[in-house]
Amino acid sequence: MASRPIQIILALTTLLAGLLFTRAPLMMASEAPKSPWADGPMKLIATPLYETKKTDMYTTGASHMCMLHNCIIRGYNSIWHQAPHVADADKPDFINYSLTWHKFVQSHHDDEEANLFPKVEDQLADKQVWEESHKEHESFLDGLAEFKTYLTTLPAPTDFSGSELRRIMESFRDPFETHFHNEIKTIAEMADHPRAPAPGTPEETAAGLTFKTWGKTTVSKAGMLDVVPFFLLNLDRTVEEGLWANWPPMPAPIKWGMVNLAGSWHSGWWKFSSCDANQRPKELYARGTEPAEAKSAEPEL
Ligand SMILES: *[C@@H]1O[C@H](CO)[C@@H](O)[C@H](O)[C@H]1NC(C)=O
Repeated sequence: MASRPIQIILALTTLLAGLLFTRAPLMMASEAPKSPWADGPMKLIATPLYETKKTDMYTTGASHMCMLHNCIIRGYNSIWHQAPHVADADKPDFINYSLTWHKFVQSHHDDEEANLFPKVEDQLADKQVWEESHKEHESFLDGLAEFKTYLTTLPAPTDFSGSELRRIMESFRDPFETHFHNEIKTIAEMADHPRAPAPGTPEETAAGLTFKTWGKTTVSKAGMLDVVPFFLLNLDRTVEEGLWANWPPMPAPIKWGMVNLAGSWHSGWWKFSSCDANQRPKELYARGTEPAEAKSAEPEL
């Protein structure tokens, strides 16, 4: 028979697991979206693998980047749609959901500039390949900073105004959308760069590994308990005829744990996500009875 301390540990573990389980995203209600959903107003991006059927490593790298960008875009859209409809009691969670989106975008941007871009520049021996991307990054950073400042300086969560958050989001929507779309093209077009490594060479393998390695760590580095669940709960694996049904490639129990165990930590935040625990689109949580745009905004005091 197990000794007393072990029995206690077992009992506590079971209790904790049970507690986490009831808070896990898999326990959240999920219905297929009927109202306006997170595929707009910011447009999602088609992956180059799906669009061009090319399979070189730049097309592949660009497509994986595209999957990440689409999670960020669904995140933006989920915030934009729900902002005017959040009940006072849900405002603390919504603020934290929105701040997690900000953290995702900020870390994504910083990790590109610090790690991915310099490596690719070296491999192609070309300091200009990301020139447009650098410029585009600068074009939305002020708006992104204002988004965070607004959410972190509210006197109280109930002071949150959905129309004010939308105003800020709209101030950087165009440059943000342009950038998130263009960067995918930039990467895919590297296949035609004069110094792109020839297929089958070790240089090509190394270049492919650069994107792969970066993609593998960039989200988990940003935060296991916030950015990872945000990413996996805004990931739609039903797109493009099932091409992405098992993306990102990881053992199913690990993915399950990242969604349902890591995701139970801040479970209240994830009710606002655009996809459910199985990475399928779900109806947004906070929504008006009329189309969001037709509904009058909260009065500004
Ligand atoms: C967001 O979450 C953090 C960490 O759980 C918490 O300390 C903070 O009060 C939350 N913010 C709001 C506005 O509720």
